Amino acid sequence: MNVSIEPMKFSHVPSVVAIEKQVYSSPWSEHAFINEILDNGFASYYVLLIDGEVAGYTGIWVILDEAHITTLAISPPWQGKGFGRSLLEHVIAEAAKKGATRITLEVRISNLKAQSLYKKLGFAACGVRPNYYTDEDALVMWLDKLPSFCDKYSVSAANKKIVPAAEQGWERKLWKKN
Ligand SMILES: CC(C)(COP(=O)(O)OP(=O)(O)OC[C@H]1O[C@@H](n2cnc3c(N)ncnc32)[C@H](O)[C@@H]1OP(=O)(O)O)[C@@H](O)C(=O)NCCC(=O)NCCS
Repeated sequence: MNVSIEPMKFSHVPSVVAIEKQVYSSPWSEHAFINEILDNGFASYYVLLIDGEVAGYTGIWVILDEAHITTLAISPPWQGKGFGRSLLEHVIAEAAKKGATRITLEVRISNLKAQSLYKKLGFAACGVRPNYYTDEDALVMWLDKLPSFCDKYSVSAANKKIVPAAEQGWERKLWKKN
């Protein structure tokens, strides 16, 4: 079995959306993913490929020293085999490489499986965002101390090129995820 993690390309998007429809009640459209890849300079998306087929994906926005995980999913037949953890470790390391020192995400209050994974990698629950999803509140989790596997990627403050978000024309997009 050949497993790899690569940046998401347009050609991956139909498979990504097929998984999206299986695991989320309000799935993102192909357009939403293409828009993220094409137009959002703060976003990075990755796919986990098993023998060349998309088995999972994740995405992150990195704005200055803060990162936001926008999505993480593994295709149902491949869940529970460690791939979710691998993808999460990958995206955390990529965020560190891009200069993030803290990472946040939202997760459904009822999604104990995902919360368990996030806690294993050091995320802590820091609050609740009421009605974040149409039918449920979100737990807001933060990872403030990046794990040791990020050490090789740590960026010294002197090397960071800090450009105010406003100058980059950043506009927050309120995509909502399960
Ligand atoms: C959440 C998700 C990404 C986890 O990926 P995965 O590949 O299934 O998880 P892994 O096999 O890497 O397991 C990592 C950890 O997740 C937790 N976990 C995985 N399956 C679990 C289950 N059935 N019950 C409880 N916890 C579980 C455990 O803490 C596990 O660590 P362990 O193996 O040391 O016990 C995946 O199940 C998924 O895509 N779910 C649907 C979409 C979703 O909820 N995404 C998160 C949105 S915030």
